[in-house]
Amino acid sequence: MSELTVTQLKTFCKKADFNLEDYHYLNGAYMSPLPMVTEQAGIEGMRRKRIPMHLTKEHFFSYRRLIRERFAQLIHGESSENIAILPSVSYGLSIIANNTPCNDKKNIILVEDEFPSVYYTWEKYCRRHQAELIVIKRPVEVENRGSLWSQAIIDAIDENTHVVSVGNIHWQDGSLFDLKRIAEKAHAYGALLVIDATQSVGAIDIDIKQLNPYALLASSYKTLLGPYSMAIGYFSDPLCSGEPLEENWINRNFSDRFAELTHYQDHYRQGAERFDVGESSNFILTPMLAESLKLLIDWDVRKIQQYCQYLTNYLSGKLQAFNIPLIGNRDRGCHYLGIEISQFDPDVLVAELETSRIIASVRGDFMRISLHVYNNIDDCDALIDAFKAVLSRRTHRATHADVTEVSE
Ligand SMILES: Cc1ncc(COP(=O)(O)O)c(C=O)c1O
Repeated sequence: MSELTVTQLKTFCKKADFNLEDYHYLNGAYMSPLPMVTEQAGIEGMRRKRIPMHLTKEHFFSYRRLIRERFAQLIHGESSENIAILPSVSYGLSIIANNTPCNDKKNIILVEDEFPSVYYTWEKYCRRHQAELIVIKRPVEVENRGSLWSQAIIDAIDENTHVVSVGNIHWQDGSLFDLKRIAEKAHAYGALLVIDATQSVGAIDIDIKQLNPYALLASSYKTLLGPYSMAIGYFSDPLCSGEPLEENWINRNFSDRFAELTHYQDHYRQGAERFDVGESSNFILTPMLAESLKLLIDWDVRKIQQYCQYLTNYLSGKLQAFNIPLIGNRDRGCHYLGIEISQFDPDVLVAELETSRIIASVRGDFMRISLHVYNNIDDCDALIDAFKAVLSRRTHRATHADVTEVSE
């Protein structure tokens, strides 16, 4: 792919495809907004159900097929047969855990403060199989946190490692994990790599062929710009002969022969389709997700990645002037910026954000900024102005206090 030029970067923004009113929405890591065509696809899905004869047999299969094909294309997969339609990441993790016998290897590696759905699954697995859960601590260093954390994961993998379960960024502060090197080490020691790509796929280009994971999972409602209550899973070939969590009719052979559904079938349909959640044809959500995936493919995730990097580099450059410790640009996800706000009064900061119609995630001493194609330089400038306003008010208060002190 040819790199976008600076002029192309300045005009890449897809805000016009969304309806964010006058908000500066910097919180896609919590919940992405919906592209307008995705919203429209949901409305059309709902309308079809208004008079159900508009729902044809083909609707039970067509959008599921599209989702599989488009997601496989998005992650540079060779076959859509490795893709399953899930309701959540936790559902996918349960499939993986249930189909992964505990061999003589005895540890599972996770990172500190892993997302609860991931942590609980492997914690239970370890309890059940008397395996050890190894949690790799977040380095205290900020600037090069991603590299240090990745190295610590790589160092921990050895002949006793059964599973390495990691995202390609940390969902809280955006630390970037070097998945390529982690994958190489895991493969060298026969460890299974499970990737939670919820906070990255669609904003960061992922090449499944290069990483060759055991499985990769992602919720639909964040960087994939899709609806809530859907997730997608890539299951590698060895998993594809596994046991699903449930026995639903549509995942069995010949389920498209509606008149013969009670000619019960011993075999599942091909590949990972056996893991599809019951009622995965969901006539509202599947057209929506299919539409969002199409947009991401059309826009090209490599370009999206470059665009997000352009915005966050701009922001981090400006924020450095305020002496705020930031994770270095190469050590964080291109669309993420974790800002340490301990020097600010959180109530004052949150009030300023509200006044400026900026939506970001403030948790304790941390503000999480997460961007996507719907953001632009104006959104970044609004955030910088909000910080400036809070700082100038603080300086003003401090000066005023000094004057008062002297005069007393
Ligand atoms: C990193 C990560 N993984 C997974 C999820 C969603 O998990 P689940 O689909 O099990 O609710 C989230 C939601 O915030 C997340 O941030």
